[in-house]
Amino acid sequence: MKKNLLLVALLLLTTSCQKSCRDSSSEVSMQRGKALYTVHCASCHGNQGDGKGPAASLLWPKPRDFTIGIFKYRTHRGLIPTDLDLLQTMKMGIPGSSMPGWDVLKTNDWYSILTYFKTLSPKLSSEKQGAPIDIPEETKTTPESIQEGRQLYEKRGCIACHGPGGKGDGPGAIVLKDVWGDRIAPRDLTEGPLKWGNLPRDIYRTLMIGVPGTPMPSYEQTFTKKELWSLVHYIQSIQKPFPKDYDPSNPKRNLLIINKINGKIPMNYKEEAWAKSPKIPVFLKPLWHEPGNTEWITVQALHTEEEVAFYLRWADDKADRDSNQNDGVAIQLPMDKISNPADLPYLGIGSSSQKIDLWQWKDNGVLANGVYDQGEWHVILKRSRAPSNDNKAPLTDVGYVSFELWDGDQPKHAGPTSFSEWMIYELRP
Ligand code: HEC
Ligand code: HEC
Repeated sequence: MKKNLLLVALLLLTTSCQKSCRDSSSEVSMQRGKALYTVHCASCHGNQGDGKGPAASLLWPKPRDFTIGIFKYRTHRGLIPTDLDLLQTMKMGIPGSSMPGWDVLKTNDWYSILTYFKTLSPKLSSEKQGAPIDIPEETKTTPESIQEGRQLYEKRGCIACHGPGGKGDGPGAIVLKDVWGDRIAPRDLTEGPLKWGNLPRDIYRTLMIGVPGTPMPSYEQTFTKKELWSLVHYIQSIQKPFPKDYDPSNPKRNLLIINKINGKIPMNYKEEAWAKSPKIPVFLKPLWHEPGNTEWITVQALHTEEEVAFYLRWADDKADRDSNQNDGVAIQLPMDKISNPADLPYLGIGSSSQKIDLWQWKDNGVLANGVYDQGEWHVILKRSRAPSNDNKAPLTDVGYVSFELWDGDQPKHAGPTSFSEWMIYELRP
């Protein structure tokens, strides 16, 4: 009898713990989410999620105001995105805007941020989730389907906004405004990756439902399914291929291998040692969207016992190194050793954060060689792995790095022209 009572008491205890323990674990997740949001999101989106963070004035398109509850990326009908849609945006970022991707964070941290982030946007809890958007089976891409797509594109109004070649320069493009009252330009369809998904299904979905909050209409009632697929095929046919080996959804795209060599690291990019080291295409995000922003930079790196060097290469129509607005590049390293990516400092985007070591072309202690050749910059920056200066971060075996670029021929805005997400580097023995 006594034994049974004890059992009942134990059972009661565990069931009551199950609930309160769950509550306290979601409370912990909420607190963690808030802390992560404050470091990594609030400078753009604001502490209240109203899109008015301190960096917002440097940015266009503007960071989303979450409080209104209009989201552009959705795979379901109705007004609100699913949790997975929001996580997808957080993971991948938004090409052509300053919204970085957070692939470096751990999955449970994404969920913590999501839990907190949803409290800033009441509609996400009050609205009912719609049904998944059904996408019909893709028709075959053929010269005829591309041709049909081209004709629809040219005759049915796309040109007015997206321009004859799809570069986002149609006559209507300059007057377009979104529901937040900001000017909005369609992304250049010929440059990938697109903002709202780059797979054929994603492009189909964008055409079907339009882009909420923007003048991009929904074409579900306008075109047949076959016509929509033809438009997708036409868009794909004008899109430039990504750099070789680049897969936008592969987290490894953010891994930079730094091989070891014997002897000195050459400062001439034409040397054999550079030809042999892996070339990593890095996708950049603009602060201020302008046509012709540099979006790709190729990064290579080498190390010895003492030194480390990065070779950065990118296309640029014109070399500007002596004007009042120079071409430039910088490497960012966190000052402190980071064992969990959640502790990474906020990506500096040009602000002189004390937690970031920014090494530039003309810094003391950095050996630099920049050559402009046939429309491309080749810049090598070399430094000691264990700098004597306290303001400089040492290079550990594994760590985080990001890149910033200035383009002299672009209209002048504050800060760099574009920047990369945090990437992981690994020094290989
Ligand atoms: C450097 C500035 C910046 C930072 C940091 C940033 N964002 Fe953004 N974010 C943006 C911009 C700009 C947009 C709007 C892009 C557009 O509409 O083209 C955006 C849009 C979004 C959207 C809207 C997607 C949709 O479907 O409409 C979500 C969700 C979002 N950000 C979440 C986050 C979270 C979570 C973090 C932190 C982990 C974060 N952002 C950090 C700039 C930023
Ligand atoms: C009234 C102007 C307007 C018209 C007409 C228009 N669009 Fe758009 N479209 C936009 C804007 C603005 C955006 C950008 C929304 C954003 O980035 O948030 C956009 C976005 C898109 C995208 C998504 C791009 C991305 O980065 O994910 C595709 C694809 C697209 N449009 C194709 C078309 C096609 C095809 C047509 C014709 C059938 C068309 N649009 C007609 C204004 C227009």
